[in-house]
Amino acid sequence: MAGSRKRILVVGSGAREHALADGIRRDPGGPEVIVTPGNPGMAAEFRVVPSLPEDPADGAARIATFEPDLVVIGPEKPLATGLSDALREKGVLVLGPSASAARIESSKLFAKERMGEAGIPTADFHVTPDAGSVREAVRSFGYPAVLKADGLAQGKGVFVLQSPADLEEALEKIFDRRELGEAQTKVFVEKGLSGPEISFIVLTDGTRFLPFPEARDYKRIGDGNRGPNTGGMGAVTPLSGWTPKDQEEACNLIERALWGMRRHGTPFQGFLYAGFMKTPDGLKVLEFNARFGDPEAQVLVPAAGDSLLTLLESAAGGALEQQSPLSRTPRVAVVLAAKGYPENPVSGSVLYGLDKAREQERTRLYLAGVAERDGQLVTSGGRILSVASEGDTVGKAREKAYRTIALIGLDGGQFRTDIGLEEAER
Ligand code: AMP
Ligand code: GLY
Repeated sequence: MAGSRKRILVVGSGAREHALADGIRRDPGGPEVIVTPGNPGMAAEFRVVPSLPEDPADGAARIATFEPDLVVIGPEKPLATGLSDALREKGVLVLGPSASAARIESSKLFAKERMGEAGIPTADFHVTPDAGSVREAVRSFGYPAVLKADGLAQGKGVFVLQSPADLEEALEKIFDRRELGEAQTKVFVEKGLSGPEISFIVLTDGTRFLPFPEARDYKRIGDGNRGPNTGGMGAVTPLSGWTPKDQEEACNLIERALWGMRRHGTPFQGFLYAGFMKTPDGLKVLEFNARFGDPEAQVLVPAAGDSLLTLLESAAGGALEQQSPLSRTPRVAVVLAAKGYPENPVSGSVLYGLDKAREQERTRLYLAGVAERDGQLVTSGGRILSVASEGDTVGKAREKAYRTIALIGLDGGQFRTDIGLEEAER
């Protein structure tokens, strides 16, 4: 219907999905944006429809009742279980890969096979069905070596081994205590690589693609990359060490990956995320993800300005519209995490000062692990929100993000103080 308002539905409940919803809403056509299952922190800005059924067919049936013009799927799990396939069967336009294409993330060995076929540089590896073959592979590669479980393990499936003690600990977790569940059915050992890591995300229709600016995320809980791994404590873009040659190489590797996926009969449409390591021998791929990164989305989605929806619709429709490059405005996102995160995040702590924080210029708040209690937002999960600021330099973006996060009150709340620091100092 000409002139009628479009209705876009975003699947997911984290800060990444909040950023996507916020970006889509900037479309000049003024679309209605629904988020499901969303969270109460988004409810002031968007219609939130909680309790989306997990079963893909049931989920798709529920989503179809809203008659969306486009569905955008944020997280890996619904992609891996086939929500996009179930939606397409119902004739719904959807951005996000099929379950078979999402295997590029949900099976690390599938990704390794595609990389091998397409000539994409990645760490050498051996598939290791038992503890004995793991030991043998580590002996042949030397330390550091990396032990990986094939399936989705929510970030717990990768063990960087620096010593025989690390090796024994990982073997015990995987083979004796079977802590990884299904993901441990297949494990493999990789040669350890070293160099800076870069997150490189593109939007693709399966053939054409549009790169977002390069970014870095910060996976450890503590300053100076110390302490346990998390879902991601912050992000920065752009990166000063990223050269035009790196960009060309990265685009070439993405092109090969998309070619490999088409050739295998699993064309990839949606957001493709390459985790690169810049080694002395050039870029190597550590992993692919079938979705936008979190917290990378919080600094990268705004780069599309008010054209995000057009881009997503055209990619979902199979003909990504050629666009000018995305904005490289410096952005920094700092994640506020609950007390006790990542081991035992405390739920039910009240958040204060959000209104004041929202008023800060060139700054956005993206809510994640929150619930509502007596009209107040309280913690309900590990990563609570992201503060994302832009500035004329990374240093200015950083200052703004940190001034804003200081306005938010949360008992025992944790955030890193060094997000984007090395970029600001350059
Ligand atoms: P992945 O989920 O495969 O990206 O692995 C998670 C993290 O483990 C990466 O971000 C790297 O920091 C580290 N890692 C993975 N593979 C390697 C490797 N071959 N060499 C060194 N570090 C690695
Ligand atoms: N930030 C890393 C990820 O989303 O997997």
